[in-house]
Amino acid sequence: MARTIAVSGTASGIGRTLAGLLRDQGDTVVGVDLRDADVCADLGGAEGRARAVAEVLEACGGTLDGAVACAGVSDFTDLPVKVNYFGAVALMEGLRPALARAEAPRAAVVGSIAGTHPVDDAVVRACLAGDEPAALEAAAKVVAAGGGYQTYPSSKAALARWLRRECVTPEWAGAGIPLNAIAPGVVKTPMTVPLFEDEAMLQVMNEAVPMPLNGYADPEVIAEALRWLLSPANTHMTGQVVYVDGGAEATLRGPDVF
Ligand code: NAI
Repeated sequence: MARTIAVSGTASGIGRTLAGLLRDQGDTVVGVDLRDADVCADLGGAEGRARAVAEVLEACGGTLDGAVACAGVSDFTDLPVKVNYFGAVALMEGLRPALARAEAPRAAVVGSIAGTHPVDDAVVRACLAGDEPAALEAAAKVVAAGGGYQTYPSSKAALARWLRRECVTPEWAGAGIPLNAIAPGVVKTPMTVPLFEDEAMLQVMNEAVPMPLNGYADPEVIAEALRWLLSPANTHMTGQVVYVDGGAEATLRGPDVF
């Protein structure tokens, strides 16, 4: 059965690979990205988010079989909070009514192993309260204090908590929409190229994200996992943050977390 699926971040890396896999199996993909996409919009701000939702709804005719929030940024500014949390949540919430109209709708976001790393609680709290100005103010404080490395983990931890909270509500589970996350370890995409070019950064990353099973992943690995989350076969899994990370999460959190 051919389906229509919205995917953000289709200009590069994991989103681009996922869009290719879906198109190869006959699905129609409505790609959203800053450039080189069906819908070009900046998910870092309110105007771009609203336009992205409106243009996806127009492209799909108001009914959507799947939606994936994959677009993301990794840096030490407040940008991850804007794009990875508020951009992803706005896209998913904006597209939810169109998903609810489909026969077997599926939703997924892309988290990160970084969501298990130390976070700034004020940023996470403000994200979950839906208060973007407060989240950005908290992020600015962290950055000014030299803790900019925490904005990315904070954005991904907040996103995981958002999905855990929302997945069982009438709006999602009650409307028959599974909502899950794939949380990768280190994936070989344009996002991680700078890390591989810096020996010191690479060492920090290897310690922060130990991957005893098969090492760094190719984007196809993550895209395949997302493809299953989107498939009609996934009737009963929801609220799960699935670590596709070469064993990083199990190494870091150990046997008592499951
Ligand atoms: P990438 O840099 O190759 O692709 C990210 C895409 O998101 C790009 O096409 C970019 O233009 C788009 N994007 C960025 N800001 C945007 C904005 N404001 N509005 C619209 N689109 C925007 O990165 P990659 O690796 O494919 O990342 C995809 C997702 O996977 C991200 O959410 C990232 O945080 C996550 N992830 C990646 C990991 C890695 O090792 N590569 C590890 C864990 C998570």
